[in-house]
Formats: sequence, C-alpha cells, structure tokens
Amino acid sequence: MKFFKIVLLFISLQTSAQQGGMWIPSLLNGMNEQEMQALGSKLTAKDIFDVNNSSLKDAIGHFNGGCTSEVISPKGLLLTNHHCGFSQIQSHSSIENDYLKDGFWAMTLAEELPNEGLYVDFIVRIEDVTTKVLNGVNDGMTAQVRQSFVDSNINAVKKAAVVEPWHKIKIKPFFKGNQYFLFVFERFEDIRLVGAPPTSIGKFGSDTDNWVWPRHTGDFSIFRIYANKNNRPSKYSIDNVPYTPKHFLPISLDGVEEGDFTMVFGFPGRTNEYLPAVAIEQLTEKINPSNIAVREAALKVMDAYMKSNDTIRIQYASKQARIANYWKKWIGENKGLKKSKAIAKKREFEAEFTKKIIEKGLEVQYGSLLEEFESAYAEFNNINMLRSRFTEVFIRNNELMKIMFRLTQMEDAAYNQESFNKAKAYMISTLKGIHKNYNAELDRAIFNEIMPLYTDEVNDRIYDKTSFTNLDSALVVLEGSPSQVIQRINEDAAYQYAKPYIMEFYTRIEPEYQSKKSNINAIQKDYMQALMQVMPNERYFPDANGTLRVTYGQVKGYEPRDAVYYKPISYLDGVIEKYEPDDYEFDAPAKLLELYETQDYGQYADSNGKLPVCFLGTNHTTGGNSGSPAIDAHGNLVGLNFDRVWEGTMSDYYYDAEICRNIMVDLRYILFIVDKFAGATHLIEEMTLVHPKNNTVKLIEKN
Ligand code: ARG
Ligand code: ASP
Repeated sequence: MKFFKIVLLFISLQTSAQQGGMWIPSLLNGMNEQEMQALGSKLTAKDIFDVNNSSLKDAIGHFNGGCTSEVISPKGLLLTNHHCGFSQIQSHSSIENDYLKDGFWAMTLAEELPNEGLYVDFIVRIEDVTTKVLNGVNDGMTAQVRQSFVDSNINAVKKAAVVEPWHKIKIKPFFKGNQYFLFVFERFEDIRLVGAPPTSIGKFGSDTDNWVWPRHTGDFSIFRIYANKNNRPSKYSIDNVPYTPKHFLPISLDGVEEGDFTMVFGFPGRTNEYLPAVAIEQLTEKINPSNIAVREAALKVMDAYMKSNDTIRIQYASKQARIANYWKKWIGENKGLKKSKAIAKKREFEAEFTKKIIEKGLEVQYGSLLEEFESAYAEFNNINMLRSRFTEVFIRNNELMKIMFRLTQMEDAAYNQESFNKAKAYMISTLKGIHKNYNAELDRAIFNEIMPLYTDEVNDRIYDKTSFTNLDSALVVLEGSPSQVIQRINEDAAYQYAKPYIMEFYTRIEPEYQSKKSNINAIQKDYMQALMQVMPNERYFPDANGTLRVTYGQVKGYEPRDAVYYKPISYLDGVIEKYEPDDYEFDAPAKLLELYETQDYGQYADSNGKLPVCFLGTNHTTGGNSGSPAIDAHGNLVGLNFDRVWEGTMSDYYYDAEICRNIMVDLRYILFIVDKFAGATHLIEEMTLVHPKNNTVKLIEKN
C-alpha cells in the first residue's frame, strides 16, 4: 500500500508541471493524450474529438458567441451558467413573474420559453488550411500586403469548401497568424429557456464573492435546443421539436476529490501568453492601474447612490456588476503577476531565448526581435494609455458620454438615408437600453469624478441643458430628415462638449494606436515563429481566440498567501455560514435553508454526507469558458465552469500551476437544486446519471 502511494506521488510530481494550455481538440494525439492520461484520464484523443463518429465535442456548444454550454440529455437539454443566461432570464421577467428573484422552471415542453436572437454553435470539423491561406505570402512583404493576400486567400478557401447546406464556415488565425484553421459548424437558433434558480442561488455572493474562493454559487441555467422535423437547425417555429444530439454528456454522481483528473472543454475568448516582459510591464504598471483608477472613481459614486436609495440599487445592479467585474479582475491580475514574479521570469526566459538564438546561429533572422519589442512598446506606451483612458472615460463608465460617442457614429452615417436609418435604429436601441435603468444625477456625479482624469475642462452644466438624459426628449431630437437630426444634435450642449474629444479620438488617437499596434503584431508574429523554431521542446498552445479548446488538470487547492491553504471543495454548510437574511448578496431562499435543516440531499450527497457546492481545478480557463463542462476521467460531466480565483486571473498572460485555479459548480449541487429545490424531476429523468468510480475498491483502499 505504502509503495503504491509512493509510486503515485512520483507520477503526480512528474506530471504536475505539465498543465496549462488551451489545446486544439483535433490535435490531441500524442503529447496531450499522454499528459491527460498521466493525470488520470482514461480517454483517448478520439473519444474527445472524432470527425467520423460521435465524440465529446458534439456535446459542446458555443452559447451566443460569448459563453459555453453542453448538451446533457438525448432531448437537447442544454446546461450553461446563470450569468450566461442572465439577459434571457431577465427579458422574460416582470414584476408579476420575477424569474430573476424567484427562479423559473418549465414543467412541460409547452412552458419552455423562446429567446429571439439567441443561438448555439456546434463544431462539425476543423481543418488546417495554413498552406492555402499563406499561399503567395513571403517574409519580405509589409504587414498590409501580407494581410491583403491572406484575406483574398481566405475568401477563396471558404468558397471552395464543401459543406452541407445548413453548415457555416469560419477561418481563424492561430499562433499570431503563423497558422490558420477552418471551422465548419452548425448554428441552432431555436433555444428555449427551461429552468433557472433564483438569483439568491445562481448569483449567491454576487460581487463580494466574484473571482473569489471559497465560493458557494449555484451559477447555472438550463435551456433546450429545438430543431426542425429533420433534426436540422431552424429558426424558431412552433413546429420545431427537441433536438436529438450526436452526443450528450452523462452525469457522474460520484463527484470528485482532490487529485482527480478533470478537463474543461469550451470556447475561451482571448489570452496573450507569449507577450514579452516589456508588455507585461506596461500592462501592470500603466494600463491596469489607469483602468482601475477610472473604474474605482465611478464605482465610488455608484456605490454611494446605491446604498442611499433602493430604487437606484436595483436599477444599477447589473451596470455596477459589469464595471466591478473587470475592475476586480485587473486588481487580482496585478497581484498574481507580482506574486508569481512574471516579469522577472519572462526576462529570464528571454535571456535563455537569446542564448539559444546565438547557439543556433539564427541571429540574422531573430537576433533583433527583443530590441524591436522594446522600442515598439516604448513608442506604443503613450498612445496605448491615452486610448484606454478614452475608452474607460467616454465609453465604459459614463453613459451620457457613451451616448455622445454613438451619436458621432450616427452623424458619420448620415451620408445616405439607408445607412442613416440603420445607425438611427441602433442609436434608439442604445438609448432605450441605457434609459431603462438610468439616473441622470448619478451619471453626472460620475462625470464629475472621472472626467478630470481625462481633461481639465470639466463642464457638468451640460447635464442641465442636454436632451439626452431623458429618453422622450432624446427621441424627439432623432425625429425628421438626416440633415434636420444632425443639425439638432449639433446644437445639443452635451454633444458640443464631447464632440471635439471624440473627433480627436477618431482622427488622431485611433489611427496612431492602430498603426503602432499593427507594428507590434508583426513583431509578435515573428517572435512566435522564432520561439517555436529556437526552443522547439517547449509546450506551445495557440492563444485563445474564441475557438473550441481543451484544457486539463486536476482538482486541487492552493496557497493564496503565506500560511493559508484553500481546500478545493466547498459545501452547502458554507452557504449557511455566509447566509444573511435580506442581504442583496448573501440572502438564501427559505426552501434551501429547510433542505439544509433536514439534510434532505437524496442521491446528491458526498460520501461524507455533506452536499458539495463548488470545487477548484488547475484547468487553464478564461472569459468565454463560462458554462464549460468539467469532464471526469471517463467522459462524464462532474462540474460546470464559471470563474477563476483572484490571485490566478493573470492566467490570461501567465499561467502558473501553483496559483491558477478555475472554479466549477459541482454537478451534484445543480441536480440537487433541480430535483429537491425546484421539483423539476422530469428533467432529471431525461438525463443519464452514472457511478463511474468503483466503490468497492475505494472501500478496500480506505481500510
Ligand atoms: N467573474 C466571472 C466572469 O468573468 C463571473 C461574472 C458573473 N458574476 C458576477 N458576480 N458578476 O464572468
Ligand atoms: N467568468 C468568466 C466567463 O464568464 C470565466 C473566467 O473569466 O474565468 O467566461
């Protein structure tokens, strides 16, 4: 027994470094398959991705372009996060039927609610089209000429691709434009809301707990995919029927324990893992602090108003959450980059890189790249700062200025009736979106706090004179012919104030930013190529770009700071510890408290009798991975990814297996809520529940 443990320890030490990375699912053969199996997986590369037979990938859907979701029943039941389905849940809610507050459960198919505009994409196949896309391209070309070759090749490849009529195609650059992949996918557009827990479960802990461990949030919602009678994608129709998937994920009732293998399969949005040290320096010393400062100023105002007035608190809940989400992320990111000494480590790595270049006699080709980076970033710094200051002040944090920004776009589109109408329709929907929950006094207070961070000329009397702090008067300004509308806008006090800044943005800031940025991108492309050639034995994965990826690791706790260890699994007991009656973040439904009192956990309790809620893993995830399935060693669903730990959010730039952790809801908590809390047992009956762990063996081992 002891010997066995030592061998196990040895294996896990040997492989513990081999984590991190977001891998292309069609290329797992070889290294990835071996690493996964070394971590405990029983799956083959083909189990995960197979073009000719059904495989795990057939259950993974890109949810509305921004999140991930997975099919969990033969009748197209689809699981994602509560925060991913939030706007759909909100749009069906009213004062009488407040699904955000009370939750929603369709007890029959007829009660499932359609969602206009919502779609889910499934990957059919992936093809490396690099040679075709880079046909005719050579190293002597300028970035612009190269890009025009690439663009026309991409069009040609798309045209030549052979696909079914209901298939769609897209081609995306990988490894900074050194490689190109084509994706054939199916888009389903009849996606209906089936169930959502109340916000007091789905968003339990809200902002205080966001990006934080220990976590106790049941962040899930359930939808269903509908297809036409031939099981093909179709727009909403009353004649549509539940979709029969090529694959759905069985759900494990055995859960996970520390050390267990997990993989996360989904659509990560964007990472930047191959930046030079100088870029990380600029990010941590300039950009993040600047963005944090603007948001801090805006949040201070919001928080004060929200505390003093309940109507404002509800009105601004979602706006505040959006601003606070990345404000908090950037703070954590800076902490993590510092704690893991990312800059120093990148510098060391670059020294090593330089040494290898010389050893391999590649100085002529790559010897100047790092210096080019240094000078390109030195030139980029000011304009990068200015641009991100502008976006934070004018677009992200102050809504009157955001309206002005959109108005300049509308003015720009006024050259003909058709483009004007389009711009105007967009303008109206922006205005309605903002004014649905708007308080001019609060917005003015934010203006007064953040505008001084951009300019010395802060004139808040524009709030008394403008027509745009009120929806009705704003809509009146937009009536009439394009020239009438444009003239009236130009007479508006807020527009007169904002327009010179916005014009400066368009005519000077943005062009300079784009040209310096594309210079950096060109160096980055060569650097990526150099890395792979000079240090061919490193593990290279392409940065996230919104395409399907696999990441894997183990269930594991971590040390956030000296003398503190975080265990990897949280329980319902923790919900009760945090519970605060009537608190807007930590209230909990009476029914949940009751189930806790009676310990009525059914088949969902852990072997210790407690009900697991969330768990941590070393899977390398990012924004877009929300709603991704955490899959066990056998291909069963065990968790639902929704967040990362604060100290590890720097994984977007620098993954450190010591402190980077993703946070998942335990599937048993989700099933418990569906079954015991909501009584939606018909949904449980649709699913396939399994016990993959050999209980007898476990018992013997314990003795
Ligand atoms: N931090 C997570 C993500 O970036 C969850 C955000 C939703 N939850 C919240 N409390 N705002 O999307
Ligand atoms: N919460 C993020 C999302 O919505 C996931 C993450 O950034 O870890 O995709």
